[in-house]
Amino acid sequence: MAYPYQITSLEQYHNDYKKSVEDPESFWGAIAENFEWRKKWDKVLNWNFTEPKVEWFANARLNITENCIDRHLKTMADKPAIIWEPDNPEERTRTVTYARLHKRVCQFAQVLKNNGVKKGDRVCIYMGMVPELAYAVLGCARIGAIHSVIFGGFSAQSIADRLEDANVEFIVTCDGAYRGGKDISLKSIIDDALIGNKTVKRVIVYTRTRTPVSMIKGRDVWWEDEMLHAEDQLELNATFNFPAEEMDAEDPLFILYTSGSTGKPKGVVHSSAGYMVWTNYTFVNVFQYKPGDVFFCTADIGWITGHSYIVYGPLSAGATGVMFEGIPTWPTAGRFWDIVEKYKVNTLYTAPTAIRSLMSYGLDPLKGKDLSSLKVLGTVGEPINEEAWHWYDEHIGKKKCPIVDTWWQTETGGCLISNLAGVTPAKPSWASLPMPGVQPILVDEHGHEVTQKDEDGLVKGNLCIKAPWPGILRTTYGDHERYRTNYFATYENLYFTGDGAFKDAEGNFRITGRVDDVLNVSGHRIGTAEVENAINMHAGVVESAVVGFPHEVKGQGIYAYVIMNQKHGDDEQSKKDILQTVTRVIGAIAKPDKIQFVTGLPKTRSGKIMRRILRKIAEGETKNLGDTTTLLDPAVVEEIQKGKL
Ligand code: PRX
Repeated sequence: MAYPYQITSLEQYHNDYKKSVEDPESFWGAIAENFEWRKKWDKVLNWNFTEPKVEWFANARLNITENCIDRHLKTMADKPAIIWEPDNPEERTRTVTYARLHKRVCQFAQVLKNNGVKKGDRVCIYMGMVPELAYAVLGCARIGAIHSVIFGGFSAQSIADRLEDANVEFIVTCDGAYRGGKDISLKSIIDDALIGNKTVKRVIVYTRTRTPVSMIKGRDVWWEDEMLHAEDQLELNATFNFPAEEMDAEDPLFILYTSGSTGKPKGVVHSSAGYMVWTNYTFVNVFQYKPGDVFFCTADIGWITGHSYIVYGPLSAGATGVMFEGIPTWPTAGRFWDIVEKYKVNTLYTAPTAIRSLMSYGLDPLKGKDLSSLKVLGTVGEPINEEAWHWYDEHIGKKKCPIVDTWWQTETGGCLISNLAGVTPAKPSWASLPMPGVQPILVDEHGHEVTQKDEDGLVKGNLCIKAPWPGILRTTYGDHERYRTNYFATYENLYFTGDGAFKDAEGNFRITGRVDDVLNVSGHRIGTAEVENAINMHAGVVESAVVGFPHEVKGQGIYAYVIMNQKHGDDEQSKKDILQTVTRVIGAIAKPDKIQFVTGLPKTRSGKIMRRILRKIAEGETKNLGDTTTLLDPAVVEEIQKGKL
């Protein structure tokens, strides 16, 4: 498969960027010609950020799975689409060719149909990293059902909230999942999430760990039985095909929940056509993918990175991707390097947290590992510090692999700001230049563009985007007003990212982190309000305030200040109870790293918690806490400082 839209020189990047901004419709219209459509668009783009409304490839008809699978069958049916590496390195690996992927996705689409799933229905997927997860996602897309994948680390309560928000009737899960040698009982978590649920009609259970599970008559069915039955049905048809549903360009493809400033995660909705074009275009260009390359994205499909760069981007480009069930440090901290060597991986795409964590093991795990297949390295999810960048460059890339620092968000569908591997210059810990079609702007708190350079020669401000790119989210599920207020109401006529950034004289961007009440812990987005709500559910807690603090490995850690009215047992016991409560309510990923018991919180006279002060204390600042005179009780600050952990 050739990619005529692949940018191969810096000059071409500048030309394409210019074209994309001056005439986005003809630029993206020409790129969209490289996909399979049942019907082409009437208009490339309709938009306004006030309503807000964004429509790409209006009235075009397509099915994304025909672009990700069927169109490759003529020329590369036997090419591996997914190479699966199990958690346990002793276990058999699996290679799924495009032909096999087609077969399994068709079969699973038939399973969904047999179980009553129709176009537009929401299907929740809660599985470990097995190829069946990709079949489930693509099976939904094939029949036009909207998938909502939930990361395996979320608790029953989190799942229950998401099921309710999206009015989900169908679930696909596993008995259990293997991660780092542990067996996580996913089905039993689903069972807890379903207590009291009245909408879910069917749960399809794939067998991975053979953990005993309760199967409820009339509701729960086994994946394997259903697939066999579907196989029999499809075998009657000579091509073993399940015809793909014809979708409108703007029909929702999936919902993915992510955290914001409020306590309730929002269901980010992505479209069919724009998302497809964007993930494919960014995949081919950022990573400079060449036919035959082996691409290894270490993310979980439960996050946007897995959706875009394990499933839709690579498959739509006909690429071969490695899908890894386990974690980087099990059974040894050399696991990624074993995988790179075993499959001759050409591109490795991972998170700064993983790099920092592997760095902490020193160079021993790298001894004797052949990493010579690597051509491109990538990072995503959080700012990468220079030390980690150089370690990655020197010890993994051996100074011959460009590193792409890709900045993007669940909402953006794919990379927005990133260097293009080996084509545009890399700058350690700078995401660098915007992708064609992306117009970043830095604004002050009133929304005015900042143009003034500070003493470092940098422009600093809040990062916004001026116009839509094809992969922008289209709404937040069931609440379009929330979409407007979250992204388009802070600054008039701009999409606000929630991030702060610097810009240098060459136009490179460095993302400094969130400026709202959202934390980025190990590259996972967690709202402070969400964690506070969870802590406050503990019976002994009166009030709490959560802030981030710099953490060597995770990038950011969670610091909780908690007022208790009663403790059962000592402080340590109470802390454990609180951690258990957070694990129950959100999941282990949201557990605070530090809990400090306090008798009061710094509040303004109107009762607002001054997080700025708490953040500074958590960061270890002792003097410059800013103005504390407007506080209701300034003495509380001193007490909190004394008790700092
Ligand atoms: O703060 C930015 C940070 O991660 C946030 C988005 O998180 P999420 O929606 O979970 O998506 C993560 C995977 C795309 C952003 O608002 N972020 C992401 N990539 C980078 C980054 N910060 C700095 N540099 C990056 N490369």
